[in-house]
Amino acid sequence: MANDLSSDAFVEFERVQKSYDGENLVVKDLNLTMPKGEFLTMLGPSGSGKTTCLMMLAGFETATHGEIKLDGISINNIPPHKRGIGMVFQNYALFPHMTIAENLSFPLEVRKIGKSDREAKVKRALDMVQMGEFGGRRPAQLSGGQQQRVALARALVFEPELVLMDEPLGALDKQLREHMQFEITNLAHDLGITTVYVTHDQTEALTMSDRVAVFNDGRIQQLAPPDALYEEPENSFVAQFIGENNTLLGTIKEISGETCLVQLDDGEVIDARPVNVSKVGERTLISIRPERVEIDTDRLGPNAHTIPAEVLEFIYMGDIFRTRLRVAGRDDFIIKTRNSQDQRKLKPGEQIRIGWMPRDCRALDA
Ligand SMILES: Nc1ncnc2c1ncn2[C@@H]1O[C@H](COP(=O)(O)OP(=O)(O)OP(=O)(O)O)[C@@H](O)[C@H]1O
Ligand SMILES: [Mg+2]
Repeated sequence: MANDLSSDAFVEFERVQKSYDGENLVVKDLNLTMPKGEFLTMLGPSGSGKTTCLMMLAGFETATHGEIKLDGISINNIPPHKRGIGMVFQNYALFPHMTIAENLSFPLEVRKIGKSDREAKVKRALDMVQMGEFGGRRPAQLSGGQQQRVALARALVFEPELVLMDEPLGALDKQLREHMQFEITNLAHDLGITTVYVTHDQTEALTMSDRVAVFNDGRIQQLAPPDALYEEPENSFVAQFIGENNTLLGTIKEISGETCLVQLDDGEVIDARPVNVSKVGERTLISIRPERVEIDTDRLGPNAHTIPAEVLEFIYMGDIFRTRLRVAGRDDFIIKTRNSQDQRKLKPGEQIRIGWMPRDCRALDA
């Protein structure tokens, strides 16, 4: 985990910009330092620049501005065969004329690894992706998900220091995907491999990573360990992109240190934690996670804020209940309650009071 890592920078992006057409910047000002052995995930909407960053780190694209360093050396000065980077890209191109075993053996031959060693490593890598039986086939004789698993094995077979993976599990079903998530993180941590991983799947990002970089519009919006990212989003993009989030609009009335007073648009005044707001009169978007809202307000501490709500919809989801409420003039306020023995099943039309602690209520940019 993060605190075992040495503090030396292994991967560094310094003020990196990228334009493909000499006009529009698709990567705007990227600064990122990764210690050796870190598992970092890039998460963000389509077109936000994730693949472009991986391509620059691999040395396949050059940065328009700034510098990318690997172990202190500019990537532009390291010849491709010396980069020691394992890669799985969105289009997992296997060599079509080689068998699966030959595909995996190839990166080992290039590195002059002896035959018996090669065979052992190929077997281990294929077993890891549950493809041990398929060594003799050619890529065209495999399904898409099987090819993807072979591409993953081929990227890891030579135990590279740095692995770049661009949605490597996209073509797999849920069960296999979860198995592979577990295998990849274990292997990366066991071998001390530094990993940059790209995914669209939030759960994957939160469960696999030491840190997650949330991308939007060519910039990192927040870079943080999963729990900090989910519980302490620094701006409204991150709050709304990661996990489910309730928002209420209002205006800042008072700010002092760790708290602020916000007048919601329906007139109600609440306490919140000022996160990405700076002055009185500013518009703000209040963010509260559904699981931090209580319907049994007695369970909250003395500083809790309570507010009236009307039940609009009750959704039974098995392990939890998801209830939609009208709160402060908005009708998309969600709460989640556990399906425990004594849990209330709210009915549409019911008038209730809900509450939360001010520290869970974050005042962000509107
Ligand atoms: N070779 C290229 N030439 C010109 N523009 C490109 C090229 N590759 C990517 N782009 C543009 O750069 C922007 C960032 O693309 P990129 O592939 O990095 O996004 P991404 O975050 O990986 O998206 P996705 O999640 O859809 O894979 C997009 O607007 C894309 O159209
Ligand atoms: Mg991409």
